[in-house]
Parts: sequence; structure tokens; C-alpha cells
Amino acid sequence: METKVVKIPPNRVEEFEKELLEASEIIKRGGLVVFPTETVYGLGANALDEKAAEKIYSAKGRPSDNPLIIHIANPEDYEKWCKVERVDLLEKITNRFVPGPITVIQKKKDIIPHTVTAGMDTVAVRIPSHKVARRLIELSGVPVAAPSANTSGRPSPTRAEHVIQDLYGKVDMIIDSGECEVGLESTIVMLKGDDVTLLRPGGVTLEELEETLGKVKVDKGVFEKLKENEKPLAPGMKYRHYAPKASVISLKGDEEKVIAFMKESLKDKGVGVICYREDTEHLPHDNRVVVLGSKSDTEEMAHRLFDCLRTFDSIPEIHTVYARLPEDDHIGLAVVNRLMKACGYTVKEL
Ligand code: TXA
Ligand code: MG
Repeated sequence: METKVVKIPPNRVEEFEKELLEASEIIKRGGLVVFPTETVYGLGANALDEKAAEKIYSAKGRPSDNPLIIHIANPEDYEKWCKVERVDLLEKITNRFVPGPITVIQKKKDIIPHTVTAGMDTVAVRIPSHKVARRLIELSGVPVAAPSANTSGRPSPTRAEHVIQDLYGKVDMIIDSGECEVGLESTIVMLKGDDVTLLRPGGVTLEELEETLGKVKVDKGVFEKLKENEKPLAPGMKYRHYAPKASVISLKGDEEKVIAFMKESLKDKGVGVICYREDTEHLPHDNRVVVLGSKSDTEEMAHRLFDCLRTFDSIPEIHTVYARLPEDDHIGLAVVNRLMKACGYTVKEL
């Protein structure tokens, strides 16, 4: 398939109405458009068109039991696609966090096809803040189903180059709007009865959710590796994820020991490290030393994590990547969650 790549700077969306109209026409006729959001790039198709949704699964190589998030432009439209049971909770979420990096799961209405929800009776809905995403959804006039625009199992794309590596030739159009701001996928919460449950941590933090909603339950899969017979509430969270070609091992423990371990390990040309900016003065100047962010800046780490993981794919001799695990508060929880998935929960304590 021929893939058209179009550049749209996020601060000049108004000048690119023609390109966005073309993209929306592709969505309307059942094609695939990769578009930027504030979290990661999304692989979009008409969520009301079963055949179009199927194309998403095959382009990504995504297991058919892993449901998609639908993207809409306005909170008034929640009711069109889901059965809102707790208007009060939804309003609190909307007032503080929407549009933005949060996805809400509620009971679905019949109009949403089963292919999109992988047979579940609930649907995940997100209202992105990115101007390009919003205009594309508005012009399409339908909810846009979109998983992260990577091949299944690979790190999510935060730049168009990442999308091109994975999906060029498999989609009709890729909209390149530069780097995604947050860098990790949205926070996912489920509303069921009186409970609010966090299924996936992201740009909206657990602390912020609890400030707004009171007690929030946390699905077990967020913190720990589940056993064979246990299932996370979000089916996608059970798969090995975010893996570069090399194997990843997370490092935890005493700072001096961690730095000494990285320094020693780098003597092997097949090793790469993901470290803090402050660590680099103790480590060799080498393209195998990749900075995740400043020690206390977990937002920078979130922004850079997936790009760091992909970096090592372009250095063929790398077989092992050691990555420092940051603190797991605020957005650090999301960084730790993604790193733990990338390393398959392999942690070296020092
Ligand atoms: O930031 C994001 O959320 C990005 C951008 C493109 O919006 N999208 C994204 O989609 O990360 P994806 O498909 O990569 O991750 C969606 C996650 C999966 O783990 C899936 O299992 C879960 O959401 N999910 C979707 N619908 C669900 C449902 N009805 N019940 C439980 N989990 C659901
Ligand atoms: Mg994904």
C-alpha cells in the first residue's frame, strides 16, 4: 500500500485544513490514518466500521482479544457511545482532566462494534487535547478507534520516524507533527458501580485522580507481574510490551553501586545503558549511554522513555540494555510500569 506522509506543525493547524480534510476522507471511507496525540501517535480508523477496525488489528499484528480506545472531540458525546452510570464521577474527571491524557472505560452502547471492544461489553473513550487529533476527529464526524501506532509489542511511537519504522506501507496516511508532549500512553480508569479503578498509569497521575475522585482502586497488573491464571482488567496489559530488539534489565538500589555496575558493564560492547543525565559524568562518552532524563524530572523521563528504548535498535551489536528504575510516584509510576513491561519484570537489585 502507498503511504502518504504529511507534515502538520501543531501550532499551525488552521493552515492545513486541506490535508486534514483529506485525512478525514480516508477515515470516512474505511482507511487508516496515523495521527499525533499529546500522549503517543495513534493508528486511527472509523470506530463504527467493523472492517476498518479489523484493518487496525492486521496492520499492527495485534491480538484480537485486545480492545481499542475510541477517540472523540467533545464530552457531550460520551452518551452517544457509552451508558453513563455515574454522571457525577464522569463530570469530575471531565472538568479537571479533559481534554487530555486520560481514557475512561464504561458500559458500551450497541452501536460500537464488537471488533472494536474485542467482544467486551465496555468501551474505552478518550478525548485528546492535541489540536491535530481534535480537528481530524471533528472533520471525520465519527469516533476514531486508535491504538498506539506501533507494531504490537514494540515501544509506542512518540515521533513520526518511529511510526515510519513500524507501519510505512501498511497505512494510507501518516501525519507528522513532531514529538508527542507526554510521551507515554494515557491513564486508563474504569468506572463501575461506585468504584474507580486505575488500569494503566499515564499522564494523569494516581495522586491527581485521588485528589479529584477520592479513593481510587489500582488494578494489580499496574504494580506487579501477574501469575499465569490472573488477568488484568485491561487485556493489553498482559502482553510483553515496549521491547526493543535487545533484552532489557532494570536496575534498582544504591546509587553508587548502580553507577559502578553500569560503568563495568559498558566494557562489553554489546551493552547499552539508560541512565540519568547526572550519571553521565561517571560514564564513558558513547552512543551506548542514553539519557532518560534528569534524576528528579520524571516528566522528562516519561517524554523520552520510548525514544530511548528504540535508540538501541539502530546499534546492531547491542544485546543487553540496563535501565535505571526511577521513583514510582506521580508520573514516575507510569515510567516504572512501562519499564517493568519492557524488561519483562527482570530487575537487578544492587
Ligand atoms: O494514549 C493513548 O491511550 C494512546 C493514544 C493513541 O490515544 N492509545 C493507546 O491505545 O495507548 P492502545 O491500544 O495501545 O492501548 C489501549 C489499552 C490496551 O491495554 C487495552 O487492552 C485497553 O486499553 N482497553 C481498551 N478498551 C478496553 C476495555 N473496554 N476494557 C479494558 N481495557 C481496555
Ligand atoms: Mg499500545
